[in-house]
Amino acid sequence: MSETLALDILGDWRRSHDCGALRATDVGSDVCLMGWAQFRRDHGGLIFIDLRDRGGLTQVVFCPEGSESALERAHVLRTEFVLAVKGRVRARPEGMANPNMPTGAVEVEVAEFKLLNTAITPPFPIEDRIDASELLRLKYRYLDLRRPKLAANFMLRHRAVQSIRRYLDELGFLEVETPVLTKSTPEGARDFLVPSRVNNGSFYALPQSPQLFKQLLMMSGFDRYYQVVKCFRDEDLRADRQPEFTQVDIEMSFVDEEQVMGMAETMVKTMFREAAGVTLPAVFPRMPFAEAIRDYGLDKPDIRFDLKLVDVTSIVRGSGFQVFAKAELVKGIRVPGGGALSRKEIDDLTEFVKIYGAKGLAWIKIKEDEWQSPFAKFLSDEERQGLTDAFGLEIGDIVFFQAGASDMVNNALGYLRLQLGERFKLIPEDSFAPVWITDFPLLEYDAEAKRWVARHHPFTSPQPGQMGTIESAPGEALARAYDLVLNGSEIGGGSIRIHDRESQRAMFAVLGIGAEEAEDKFGFLLRALEYGAPPHGGIAFGLDRLIMILAGAKSIRDVIAFPKTQKALCLLTEAPGEVSNNQLRELGIKLRTREKDKEQS
Ligand code: AMO
Ligand code: AMP
Repeated sequence: MSETLALDILGDWRRSHDCGALRATDVGSDVCLMGWAQFRRDHGGLIFIDLRDRGGLTQVVFCPEGSESALERAHVLRTEFVLAVKGRVRARPEGMANPNMPTGAVEVEVAEFKLLNTAITPPFPIEDRIDASELLRLKYRYLDLRRPKLAANFMLRHRAVQSIRRYLDELGFLEVETPVLTKSTPEGARDFLVPSRVNNGSFYALPQSPQLFKQLLMMSGFDRYYQVVKCFRDEDLRADRQPEFTQVDIEMSFVDEEQVMGMAETMVKTMFREAAGVTLPAVFPRMPFAEAIRDYGLDKPDIRFDLKLVDVTSIVRGSGFQVFAKAELVKGIRVPGGGALSRKEIDDLTEFVKIYGAKGLAWIKIKEDEWQSPFAKFLSDEERQGLTDAFGLEIGDIVFFQAGASDMVNNALGYLRLQLGERFKLIPEDSFAPVWITDFPLLEYDAEAKRWVARHHPFTSPQPGQMGTIESAPGEALARAYDLVLNGSEIGGGSIRIHDRESQRAMFAVLGIGAEEAEDKFGFLLRALEYGAPPHGGIAFGLDRLIMILAGAKSIRDVIAFPKTQKALCLLTEAPGEVSNNQLRELGIKLRTREKDKEQS
């Protein structure tokens, strides 16, 4: 440990510029900068420090021409010490300019400096190129956030939110806050619960979204609502999922799908232009859900590259290859020039599709004189011709097949397609491909729970004329719902809502929520629907995902200041944590010990 250094006080020193501001045109001016010492090069008679703040880096020079005493005192300075320097801007000597740095043409010759604070050695260097593990970086998140590259994501996020607020304000949207302590309602993901002290044995739930409150605001006559709001879902986490995340939540009265989608589309285009200078397509294409599944296997197609799936079920029906012969669905994906894949790579892809429930991955390489494949020998000439025509096969191609239940086949090949897109570099860099997905099924069958569930949520209206048949043919109805997909990621979704009590009741009934339960869980909504609810609809965007894509970040954690790990832990504060017995007693909660769990099982 070094001896304790005396710290200076700020006194009447004021910053004149941030550390990213100075240019060649500033040469000769006297400036005052404050920030952190990034690099320090001590040449004895000359010390260079890169001073860093949110704005960037400026090289400051301690030298005899500037001040002998400042140079003398500067030998104690270390990485991440906090300094204020006063001095004159000078041009860097011939050949010493750094064109990679915005301030690279100049340096500040220090006349005076104050040591505002010291720092112990950080656990990892504060640099854009970083090798430290993410776990370590999350534990010291405040240090990680000092890195200009990461900090830039938050400046982008700030500009994006300002742009969205401006846009919605101009259109007459009211920003209204809704409760965070609310009621647990069935359907949707698992809730985070908060025990009540005042009402022992009762629990609040943290909102998964403000869905019902924003609908109630329409019933209040607020007409146009929005909120930048935290939502909470106790789900398994992935690279683009966090247990708490932010929505730009929107609801409008007296509108149809076209108006909501039109408004939302312009909002996203405006935000991309204003926050990042990115021009999105003037009109976003639209694709019905069924087409997305048919061609891409997923309801969030990445349309930046082609490589569509082809249904060959009828061609290989009754084939000599048993895997294909009786399968519900057989689809394939042709990769032009993919014949160069090695066995090892094919094996890796086979392991990959197993994540999605596939048992294997069938493949054929189209060689000049033969089809190389573990199963080509079972295919008849007719089948070969059928496949050649269906895919437009050419020498050098590889085709992958998946056979089995429809959902598994589409899912496995859909994700395989993304994998192949990356492997063969088919995805153009810095491109943005938005697409609206429409005409979703209203309901889907949950085989585990043995009942129908809402695909979007139970408040979504079926398409015109379909309310009458949702009970008799629940699988057929389409929803007045829409998702916005960007580069293969679902960035927003919404719908036109049910706005009359009887339809809402009928919807609950199809979902297996009887009259009594509906009254108990959703009574407040059903009552409100009786007092003249206007037709209404809306949408919610996943702000974190939007920024992640715009910033080109690989993980949603890179655009959230204090994110949680895959295991929903905050490594910085070590939340969640234990609480005292007193706290538990007040809440009327007794923890089941592991011993007790064992006894009972
Ligand atoms: P939905 O559930 O589709 O709709 O959510 C809207 C958007 O929120 C984002 N999102 C998430 N982002 C990060 N982590 C998560 N765990 C997470 N879950 C969802 C997605 C998604 O598109 N109330 C309705 C909207 C409406 O009908 O108006 C809703 O919440 O980008
Ligand atoms: P098998 O007949 O099980 O030896 O499989 C022959 C080939 O088909 C192997 O390459 C398997 O990986 C592949 N395969 C097995 N099951 C399926 C399936 N359901 N869909 C596609 N390919 C499969």
